[in-house]
Amino acid sequence: MAYNLHHRLDHREDIAALTALMEAAIAELQKPFLDPRQIASSRAIMGLDTQLIDDGTYFVIEANGALAGCGGWSRRATLYGGDRSPGRDAVLLHPAKDPARIRAMYTHPDYVRKGVGRLILSLCEEAARAEGFREVELMATMAGEPLYRACGYEPVERTSDDRGGAAVPLLHMRKAL
Ligand SMILES: CC(C)(COP(=O)(O)OP(=O)(O)OC[C@H]1O[C@@H](n2cnc3c(N)ncnc32)[C@H](O)[C@@H]1OP(=O)(O)O)[C@@H](O)C(=O)NCCC(=O)NCCS
Repeated sequence: MAYNLHHRLDHREDIAALTALMEAAIAELQKPFLDPRQIASSRAIMGLDTQLIDDGTYFVIEANGALAGCGGWSRRATLYGGDRSPGRDAVLLHPAKDPARIRAMYTHPDYVRKGVGRLILSLCEEAARAEGFREVELMATMAGEPLYRACGYEPVERTSDDRGGAAVPLLHMRKAL
């Protein structure tokens, strides 16, 4: 089936639908990479960040009218995490010296490998470049790493986060714009 992908900025009215999409993506798409305890633990460090919606830097992708994916970028310091994650920092970055952040990328399991993630990344990079940023960085899950590598992101450092219980492997990645 051919999919007609459309993008738009996200609105707060989408939050319930986006939360369901993210939960499906976290539960299903991490299975090849994480064990069940790590998937449960990852919920503490993933999810919706409403700051991105309020900042007008969060995109949704619709495929033939249905919600297929979401993701965004940020001009603020927080590198990853949802509204419930600890250690957030809303300070504004300096485009000339700091990398912008790529944040909260999720594709609904019914729409994987159709270019949704790639489209969101290109929208984010274009918007960050237009604000003067010269680099973008992100903290990749193991499920996200293949997408980011395919789109030119390079590894900076492997790390892990156990704030949700089991240690969840992560990879800090960066790309020049
Ligand atoms: C990561 C994620 C957003 C990718 O979304 P997607 O819409 O399927 O990605 P795309 O279709 O744009 O993929 C583009 C390219 O990335 C690579 N890629 C993406 N997913 C891959 C996978 N599971 N295995 C191998 N390569 C993959 C491929 O090169 C792909 O191109 P191809 O399909 O033509 O071979 C999705 O898997 C997801 O929601 N994962 C769970 C949540 C998560 O971990 N998000 C990342 C947070 S940092």
